[in-house]
Amino acid sequence: MMLKVLRHDGRPETAPHYDLFEIDAEPGMTVLGALFRAREVYDDSLAFRYSCRGAVCGSCAMLVNRYPALACRTQVAGLLAGEEREPLAPYPAIEGGEAWDARTTVLVEPLPHLPVLRDLVVDMAPFFAHYRAMRPTFAPADRAPERERLMAPETAGALEAYTACLLCGACYGACPVDGDDPAYAGPAALAKVYRFHLDSREAGDGRRLRTADTPHGWWRCEFHANCRRVCPRGIEPNVAIGRARAELTRRKKGGE
Ligand code: SF4
Ligand code: FES
Repeated sequence: MMLKVLRHDGRPETAPHYDLFEIDAEPGMTVLGALFRAREVYDDSLAFRYSCRGAVCGSCAMLVNRYPALACRTQVAGLLAGEEREPLAPYPAIEGGEAWDARTTVLVEPLPHLPVLRDLVVDMAPFFAHYRAMRPTFAPADRAPERERLMAPETAGALEAYTACLLCGACYGACPVDGDDPAYAGPAALAKVYRFHLDSREAGDGRRLRTADTPHGWWRCEFHANCRRVCPRGIEPNVAIGRARAELTRRKKGGE
């Protein structure tokens, strides 16, 4: 197989280019494995980010065949066999650009909407700035009780749908709105706000919903749903955003 990788030294004055590496695709090889092989055999300056190599840390999100994915979880054989992936609502970063033959070649590019530091390594600072702005930590409504705080199983189940986020940024790189509007909080940050809104140990007075009640928060989403399609943890930020908007509207009508 061939691995086609976008290379860039991160300097605005330098044009990016593609390098082609011929790789022996062993059974079970992942895209991250192929990148390691390219680095070992051909070019030790090839830059990419990873840590756990087991779909846990969220470091290795990138565009694989123009689809945001974790490189350590994506099997080369599946890509070459044309494995089906749920189509994404189109946006500029995945449309057009460099052509490649998906039967023989895996195309790897950096995650969109974030500045490239080098090759496949992007600067995650804008993503984390939005995340931090949402105050993504538990804020209990009362003082710590003598024993643990209890939660009804159904509440725990509802918020668990949003707790498994790896902060990989795949949803951010897949969101057409994030590409258009750098001020948009983005799917992961909004899903996290909603997770704390559902947490019965917090005040439950709607203050979490109001955190993102801005033109660049809940109301900027256009419901393309790419976030849900690419999320490696099955999180559905678009659902959280829809529910938050409906509840905010209800609360406003009720004068809250
Ligand atoms: S919501 Fe999913 S895609 Fe988005 S950062 Fe979290 S794990 Fe990654
Ligand atoms: S290396 Fe940790 S998620 Fe891929």
